[in-house]
Amino acid sequence: MDPFKPDLSVKLGPLVLKNPVMTASGTFGYGKEYQPLVDLDRLGAVVVKGLSLEPRAGNPPPRIVETPCGMLNAIGLANMGIEAFLKDMLPRLRGLDTHVVTNIYGHHVEEYGELASALKGVEGVSALEVNVSCPNVEEGGMAFGVDPEMTARVTGKVVESTDKPVIVKLSPNVTDIREIARAAEGAGAHALSLINTLTGMAIDIESRTPVLANVSGGLSGPAIRPVALYMVYQAAKAVKIPVIGIGGIMDYRDALQFLIAGASAIQVGTANFVDPLATVHILEGLTAYCVERRVESIKELIGTLRTGKRSERGR
Ligand SMILES: Cc1cc2nc3c(=O)[nH]c(=O)nc-3n(C[C@H](O)[C@H](O)[C@H](O)COP(=O)(O)O)c2cc1C
Repeated sequence: MDPFKPDLSVKLGPLVLKNPVMTASGTFGYGKEYQPLVDLDRLGAVVVKGLSLEPRAGNPPPRIVETPCGMLNAIGLANMGIEAFLKDMLPRLRGLDTHVVTNIYGHHVEEYGELASALKGVEGVSALEVNVSCPNVEEGGMAFGVDPEMTARVTGKVVESTDKPVIVKLSPNVTDIREIARAAEGAGAHALSLINTLTGMAIDIESRTPVLANVSGGLSGPAIRPVALYMVYQAAKAVKIPVIGIGGIMDYRDALQFLIAGASAIQVGTANFVDPLATVHILEGLTAYCVERRVESIKELIGTLRTGKRSERGR
């Protein structure tokens, strides 16, 4: 056996993850659903389905459609609500040897504050991920994430209402991601995660109706990876706080691209639907990559993209 053991730990501001592999909100339930298949203790962190103050039924079906290299979803943030999460779900997650990150969503700025307050001091929640980027709800959601001022207001409200690290999750449906990234950083975010889904649609040509009852949905999966990668690269250069890369990460090679582009950690979303063990396979691939190349700490790879002239880059 090869005795070389790379250090896979990474830092997200005050939060230290044992490795950079996280689950993406909404694609891994509340974590527990995957426990029969995945050893959750191996993951860097589990990010749970987005929670709102009140339970939400979400949008009517159909709310998922497959596309050539990804999927469109218009779930509409169906969730059990913060109270049920704290009472029925969190106690079952507390025994895990991994970080649990709660993703939160509010209709207005005050609601984000109330959610953050409800989670204040709560044992077993390591950080908050603030969703200002959901395209599938009528109020709030993406409306906050496409406006730097609103992003700053929501971020500021959450930061003042919590004692936990705050990760702000950004929308790709913007003209300049750097502006939004700087707004969240300026308002006190400890880290950023990006990207959420890109707005899209599909049409049934027989009935000439939208396939999704919501008309439009959020595109995820490999189709969005190049967009996500470029946005992560731009955001990581624009801010000093750590960035988490999300978007079409299907295997460890995809994950490495995001780390090299400047991400300190990555989240795996749609890949979980294709292979429930995707997170573990990505972790194993990253480990093997570091062992083969004698990379002592995975942190050495973060932001190491070479962008000089081709002739000057070498190998
Ligand atoms: C079915 C589904 C539900 C999602 N629900 C949420 C959510 O509740 N909160 C959130 O911030 N992002 C949500 N997302 C977005 C993902 O967390 C992720 O940002 C996006 O899917 C891009 O990553 P991927 O290409 O790896 O899936 C959801 C995505 C999907 C596919």
